[in-house]
Amino acid sequence: MDKLSYAGFLSLRPSERAKAISLNGGCSSFIYTQQIDSSLLEDIVDVANHIKKHYYDVGFRQKLSTLMTGHSCSLLFTQPSTRTFVSFSLAAQELGMCVEEIRDPSISSIYKGETSVDSLLTLAELSDLIVLRQNIPGFAIEEIVYEIFRRGMHTKLINGGSGSDQHPTQALLDIFTILAHFGIDKFKNNGYTVAMMGDLKHSRTVRSLSYVLSLFKNVHQVFIAPETFAIKQDILDHLKENDIKYTVTENKPNFRNIDCLYLTRMQSEYHDEVAVANFGYLDKYKLSVDDMDSFNENAIIMHPLPRKGELPIAIDDYKQAKYWEAVRNGKFVRMALILSMFNMLDVFWLKVVKGGLWVC
Ligand code: NCD
Repeated sequence: MDKLSYAGFLSLRPSERAKAISLNGGCSSFIYTQQIDSSLLEDIVDVANHIKKHYYDVGFRQKLSTLMTGHSCSLLFTQPSTRTFVSFSLAAQELGMCVEEIRDPSISSIYKGETSVDSLLTLAELSDLIVLRQNIPGFAIEEIVYEIFRRGMHTKLINGGSGSDQHPTQALLDIFTILAHFGIDKFKNNGYTVAMMGDLKHSRTVRSLSYVLSLFKNVHQVFIAPETFAIKQDILDHLKENDIKYTVTENKPNFRNIDCLYLTRMQSEYHDEVAVANFGYLDKYKLSVDDMDSFNENAIIMHPLPRKGELPIAIDDYKQAKYWEAVRNGKFVRMALILSMFNMLDVFWLKVVKGGLWVC
């Protein structure tokens, strides 16, 4: 094992950290959105598309369910979750993995005072894969993956949401849904505009989406929020460094100029008093059915859900609404990610697709 020290690990850029602590060159953890490069994205999009296309073929699903047999996955979710938790749990089970979960710390040893690192090391001793959601930014990233690496363990770890910081698998399913609509070549070349609106400061899904969108050099990113909830400087620095065109504004835009609008709720669990005093912002930054007349036919509306009033249910019926499709895509994308992390993509194409004649 490499003798990388913890200090040395922390001194690396996020995109380099996960690589530095991967055993035998394999991807041992998926913790930062910055780990997604064009090649990983294309691999995941291809596999997830294929799973989506053949999902209702019983024989195809049976083959899928043999791929990860004998492997185990533990889900440690100490922050609330519906979509991420259920789609990870089902993705792992539908690939044949055994799945265990801890959602309520009060019925685990955390209640007895066990540190989070010890709880995670326990899961790492017992499982091949851990999916972790918790509310401290960076915790999943810096401490536990380093400990797993330092001890030479083979357990892999996926960040299922780290506080208001990152949600890399949501970024994968969001970009998958966007690419499915626009097509990868058009999205690369057509100079589309993606606008993100809401509590951008605390939204880990917006932050992660911005990172993954920065792989597409021609996409103009627009951040719409009042100053109190504006996107943080680290994201803007990343965009500057990567020569990405962006606009920061407090004004609701003319939706006709937007190809994809990504809305997000007030993330009140992270708010301080100043932010709460500004809660009335919703009136200005929510979408209404009347706004729908301004959207182009080919534009799309995305939202990571849950919603809180910024996105009326009546909008679900418009063809621009893609957020329920995104929920569905979440399971396919997470299956593809698990297969990729366990070096099973070739086996997927050979055994499940070619061996099963599901070639398209
Ligand atoms: C998001 C999250 O948890 O960050 N939900 C999700 O995972 N789909 C968005 C949110 O809670 O607002």
